Amino acid sequence: MAKIGDIDVGEFPLLLAPMEDVSDPPFRALCKEQGADVVYTEFISSEGLIRDAAKSVMKLDIYEKERPVGIQIFGANLESMLQSVEIVEKSGPDIIDINFGCPVKKVVSKGAGAGILKDIDLMVSLTDAMVKHTNLPVTVKTRLGWDHDSIKILEVAERLQDVGCKAISIHGRTRAQMYKGEADWAPIAEVKNNPRMHIPVFGNGDVDTPERAIEMRDKFGLDGAMIGRASIGYPWFFREVKHYFETGEHLAPPNLQERVEAARRHLQMSIDWKGEKLGVFETRRHYTNYFKGIPHFKEYRMKMVTSDDAADVFAAFDEVEKEFSGFEFA
Ligand SMILES: Cc1cc2nc3c(=O)[nH]c(=O)nc-3n(C[C@H](O)[C@H](O)[C@H](O)COP(=O)(O)O)c2cc1C
Repeated sequence: MAKIGDIDVGEFPLLLAPMEDVSDPPFRALCKEQGADVVYTEFISSEGLIRDAAKSVMKLDIYEKERPVGIQIFGANLESMLQSVEIVEKSGPDIIDINFGCPVKKVVSKGAGAGILKDIDLMVSLTDAMVKHTNLPVTVKTRLGWDHDSIKILEVAERLQDVGCKAISIHGRTRAQMYKGEADWAPIAEVKNNPRMHIPVFGNGDVDTPERAIEMRDKFGLDGAMIGRASIGYPWFFREVKHYFETGEHLAPPNLQERVEAARRHLQMSIDWKGEKLGVFETRRHYTNYFKGIPHFKEYRMKMVTSDDAADVFAAFDEVEKEFSGFEFA
């Protein structure tokens, strides 16, 4: 049974990864319904939070039904990170997660995200200070290292644990790899097998089939799987993995009705939460996967992704529902 601080997150939990403009309340709700055990917000800038930047503050919205939920923040400045901890606490999350893994230039160049992998002492001291500043469990999400020649994840994980980090999620790539190549889970397993480690070690990177999730559990012996891209437009991934764990068999994919219904609810919840313009825009990235497998779908997809008017998108869903009602997904 894995525990993050005092929070029981079950046997080999599935965690929805923090994903910018993806892991928002509507999507988290859908993933939770389909079996995600822990969900995280997308990363939130500590500098944005302390400036009270509206976009950052909105990302703090969390809902009872999604618990346990972690709010993820990033930054490299101690004072800003501590102030953000206080702001984040007011939203009442179950977990505060620190992003020490984001590889994008605008984040890394400020020493934040994966940028901190070049300064392990700072990474540890920031975590230490944040742990001391809150009663909530603090977790860390990071990568294997800055580049292939500087992989120190074994030492990093131990030091983070020693300053009170309550769980660590490790993406099996270096910053230099960005998203290229295959995630390497062997160094994550080394962290887990270190006899000094007692906090949960969650694996991340390329879990895109139930078989891969089983492998992460049984071959690599990790404590849980954090799932990102495989869930985009496919929240059913969580239930499929769980079903496979329980029965060793593949669950039939969702039928058209279920997909259309999820797309409708996703769009409606997004509009309710962030308004029509942003709601319509940011839900677009999910449609390809929601309807993957339908032949000659381009015409319908274009209707869903080119109009700024929610009514047009809902009309496209209705059309798809009518046109492909008996379609069997592989
Ligand atoms: C669109 C997108 C946005 C992401 N945003 C974040 C983020 O805000 N915070 C973070 O820690 N990782 C972020 N990531 C990285 C994911 O959490 C995850 O580590 C990565 O996608 C590898 O896992 P996967 O192979 O299951 O997708 C993002 C990834 C994607 C694809």
